[in-house]
Amino acid sequence: MEFKAVAGWRRSVRFFEPWREVEREKIQAIMEAVHRAPRVLEVDFVRTVVVYRDQLKDHELTAMKMPTTTAQVDMAPVYVFFYADLEALPRAATGDNFRELMARGVLNRSHGWTESFLEEQVLPYLRGIIDHPDRITMRTRTPDGDIEGPSVSRAHLSLARSAIGIAQEHALLAAFDEGLGAQLSALNTNIANGILGVPNTWTTSSPMLLGYHGESRETGGQRPREPFEEDFFEMRYGHPFYREPAVVDRLTAAEMIQPTAPLPWRKDELRALARKFGLPD
Ligand SMILES: Cc1cc2nc3c(=O)[nH]c(=O)nc-3n(C[C@H](O)[C@H](O)[C@H](O)COP(=O)(O)O)c2cc1C
Repeated sequence: MEFKAVAGWRRSVRFFEPWREVEREKIQAIMEAVHRAPRVLEVDFVRTVVVYRDQLKDHELTAMKMPTTTAQVDMAPVYVFFYADLEALPRAATGDNFRELMARGVLNRSHGWTESFLEEQVLPYLRGIIDHPDRITMRTRTPDGDIEGPSVSRAHLSLARSAIGIAQEHALLAAFDEGLGAQLSALNTNIANGILGVPNTWTTSSPMLLGYHGESRETGGQRPREPFEEDFFEMRYGHPFYREPAVVDRLTAAEMIQPTAPLPWRKDELRALARKFGLPD
């Protein structure tokens, strides 16, 4: 699919065909896209765990549900959990990833990249993030109380979480490009982490539910946003980025910009979906 159409057709899909498995090759294509996401400070933060719903026990599935993620957990056949390994930053602080990029002609003298620049400026900057005194203790909530994990600086955690966000977005776009539907959705990650056995040095965010659309690709239309002019600026805050109508027309033709929800038939679709999947109407 062309990029603009992928961006336009991506929606949070909340109805999946529960019976239709996702081909492993499509899941791999999504992981390959995540593998190519940009790397903040050359840190290899990102980890994913792919989970097949039907290989979980019923009680595990039930325990993972959250108030904002209910029926879609039962419907989506695959969940992709995203993590950032907090131990990746100390590893990057050895400078080896930077040295590799210098050797491969990616980071060059033209931009100031030399061994002394690395040793005297970049690596101390990384160490400063790791050692910053504004720290929090990682905690895992269990039925028997909280288990304390490592202490990390807020700046470290914020970098790690930004890496997860970029991974999530690459995964979402790749999923739609593969003709699948997907949604980032909260699951009880404390429960999930226990089931998946991930180390307590991995931090996480919302997993991606993945499957074939159980609702139409339109999903009732693109979801509303604040007016463009309220959020995008040129040169200074308060000076809206001028939205050229001809560009809007071009992006509409390319399917990036599509009608906003609700399409006229959405209520009928929702009634039919509720009947089809045995859900409340
Ligand atoms: C990190 C993240 C977590 C989300 N968690 C949930 C969730 O728990 N339940 C849900 O229904 N939607 C969740 N969403 C989806 C948003 O509600 C959705 O993106 C938003 O309404 C815009 O709609 P769209 O994605 O269809 O454009 C989440 C989105 C993000 C980025």
